[in-house]
Amino acid sequence: MPEKMVTIFGASTVLWTLFAASQAFKLQISPEYRMIAQIGDSVSLTCTTTDCESPSFSWRTQIDSPLNAKVRTEGTKSILTMDPVSFENEHSYLCTATCGSAKLERGIQVEIYSFPKDPEIQLSGPLEVGKPVMVKCLAPDVYPADRLEMELVKDDHVLKTQEFLEEIKKSVVTKSLEMSFTPTTEDIGKALVCQARLYIESVPKEREMVKELQVYTSPKNTVISVHPSKRLQEGDAVTMTCSSEGLPAPEILWSKKLDNGNEQLLSGNATLTLIAMRMEDSGIYVCEGVNLVGRHKTEVELIVQEKPFTVDIFPGSHVAAQVGDSVVLTCAVVDCDSPSFSWRTQIDSPLSGEVRSEGTISTLTLSPVSFENEHSYLCTVTCVRRKLEKEIRVEVYSFPEDPEIEMSGPLVHGRPVTVTCSVPNVYPFDHLEIELLKGQTTLMNKYFLEEMSIKSPETKSLEMTFIPTTEDTGEVLVCLAKLHSGQMESEPKQRRSTQTLFVSVAPQETTIWVSPSPILEEGSPVNLTCSSDGFPAPQILWSRQLNNGELQPLSEDTVLTIMSTKLEDSGIYVCEGINQAGISKKSVELTVQVSSKDIQLTAFPSESVKEGDTVIISCTCKNVSETWIILKKKAKTGDMVLKSVDGAYTILKAQLQDAGVYECESKTGVGSQLRSLTLDVKGRENNRDYFSPELLALYCASSLIIPAIGMIIYFARKANMKGSYSLVEAQKSKV
Ligand SMILES: *[C@@H]1O[C@H](CO)[C@@H](O)[C@H](O)[C@H]1NC(C)=O
Ligand SMILES: *[C@@H]1O[C@H](CO)[C@@H](O)[C@H](O)[C@H]1NC(C)=O
Ligand SMILES: *[C@@H]1O[C@H](CO)[C@@H](O)[C@H](O)[C@H]1NC(C)=O
Repeated sequence: MPEKMVTIFGASTVLWTLFAASQAFKLQISPEYRMIAQIGDSVSLTCTTTDCESPSFSWRTQIDSPLNAKVRTEGTKSILTMDPVSFENEHSYLCTATCGSAKLERGIQVEIYSFPKDPEIQLSGPLEVGKPVMVKCLAPDVYPADRLEMELVKDDHVLKTQEFLEEIKKSVVTKSLEMSFTPTTEDIGKALVCQARLYIESVPKEREMVKELQVYTSPKNTVISVHPSKRLQEGDAVTMTCSSEGLPAPEILWSKKLDNGNEQLLSGNATLTLIAMRMEDSGIYVCEGVNLVGRHKTEVELIVQEKPFTVDIFPGSHVAAQVGDSVVLTCAVVDCDSPSFSWRTQIDSPLSGEVRSEGTISTLTLSPVSFENEHSYLCTVTCVRRKLEKEIRVEVYSFPEDPEIEMSGPLVHGRPVTVTCSVPNVYPFDHLEIELLKGQTTLMNKYFLEEMSIKSPETKSLEMTFIPTTEDTGEVLVCLAKLHSGQMESEPKQRRSTQTLFVSVAPQETTIWVSPSPILEEGSPVNLTCSSDGFPAPQILWSRQLNNGELQPLSEDTVLTIMSTKLEDSGIYVCEGINQAGISKKSVELTVQVSSKDIQLTAFPSESVKEGDTVIISCTCKNVSETWIILKKKAKTGDMVLKSVDGAYTILKAQLQDAGVYECESKTGVGSQLRSLTLDVKGRENNRDYFSPELLALYCASSLIIPAIGMIIYFARKANMKGSYSLVEAQKSKV
């Protein structure tokens, strides 16, 4: 093709040269024959004459179209300037110079072209390995397009060549070469070259564009790692790191899915750290790896749970508080930094206590505990927006003392006794149980029923009557008071008192031994020994019964010894066996007699007299007060009591029958003694005196007046009927 063009221009030049050569003066045109001008440039054609002083010039185109250029003539030169060069300038321009009559003409062919810019390489998209892409090489504003050749070269290897053989239009066009290209990883770093050549001269104008190949890979293997966990608690922090493979290295975008389906962009940093999370932060988090050629996303769901702050109340859900004690209720919060506390009672009555809150602990001190504190107390904890309430029931009780065991009297075998077990100052009564046990055996128990009464402690008791026996001794009587509580504790409060039973046996069979005898001679010793059965062993108490009936205590020994008895010691002696169960009495009469040596029975002048003599039989008792003297004569028919004066009986004229045994019986209040003598009467002559026995009674103590005869008879009869021991026996039977 370039050869053809040269031929055409060559023929035209030859024609004009021949025409001009016939003139004397000469006309030159520059450039010669042909000019190639680029559209938009400024070019000039210059006509110059020689050998003519004042030539005239004229310019025209061969087809007489407008010049589309400016002419400037100066002397022998005429310059045609095309500024800018346009399609209208694609003509054969003729420069005519006239010098006088001579006329010369020169022609020049102006050819135009347009090839102003380097080609462009356009890719239909980023280069992704394995993905075909349209590569377009553009040569913009080219004219004449039929002389254009384009080539796409990669790595010194021509991929495609294209010529544009088309009809010529007078306009600049953009021509392009297109091809599909599938990049491989080997293409990374290579260059794609687009070359455009415009063949308008022998040496074609050439322009090229080099494009470095940017081969990309779409993000893939987008992975999220979550630390520490996808399940979190309020306030926690979480760090999520996302990675994605791709070329170029994908940019990481973190976002969170919103409820409406949109995503909210959070960060462009691969590491996303969320601190102080709240429940609303739960949701789906999306990590997207993005680069020029693609995007790849992965999701992770985070669950933020409510932080379970907890409230504990101590000592528990119930507390039993004794009236007067001090009780501290403690409300403690875990997992809340700055809780706020409030205390109230369920019925909104006054707290009757002191609240102290510090940090995560609040205490309510009830001191001293009173009945006003019998409530359910509520501790309300507010932590940020949440509230928790814990309840503790304060159950007030009073149970300050051990029970008391009381017996209606001493424990005596066989004697009914009432045991009272009382629990003082107890509350509440409806929770009270009193149990009475003997050893392990329950004798009785009693539950106290609820009483709708004022809140105040009272004394409650159980009463029981039983008949103790000696076998009960040593057994333990237990009074057990249990204060149950509905909910307080599983075990009831207990208080107990015990009493070891000691069953006594009342004294009985009190016995007295008298050694040697209850009838004694004055001056002799006597031992009175007493014994009494009973349990515990009865205490012995010897007393002497006074005339007025009162007892005069003598000794607590079992043996009452009188070393030397006196007449005054005669009397009733009482022995008492005493223990806590009772008294058993026994008495004995002690008779102290005048010593036999103190009574003398004498016959005067002699115990042997003659008939007719006067004999005085006299009975004397020295220094024995209140002694009856009875003078008797023993006879076969019975004793004859003789009438005596001051203990003396006078036989004026002794008869034979006066002989015999005479007895003197001395009687004191406590006994009698006998003395006797035998009177011997010797016969003399036959004169007899009348004898009439007489009752004689006299006092030894002359100072006393002789009492009435009846008294004497009384004593005499008593002495005769019952013998020496009669009084003692009488006393014994009385006991
Ligand atoms: C991403 O986070 C890391 C660590 O938190 C930090 O060092 C880095 O500067 C951050 N980069 C950007 C772009 O914010
Ligand atoms: C009285 O008891 C004492 C001591 O037991 C004894 O020595 C004495 O002989 C007793 N006397 C009589 C009269 O039994
Ligand atoms: C008689 O008893 C009294 C005191 O009781 C005494 O002083 C007096 O000596 C006694 N007389 C005789 C004779 O024993």
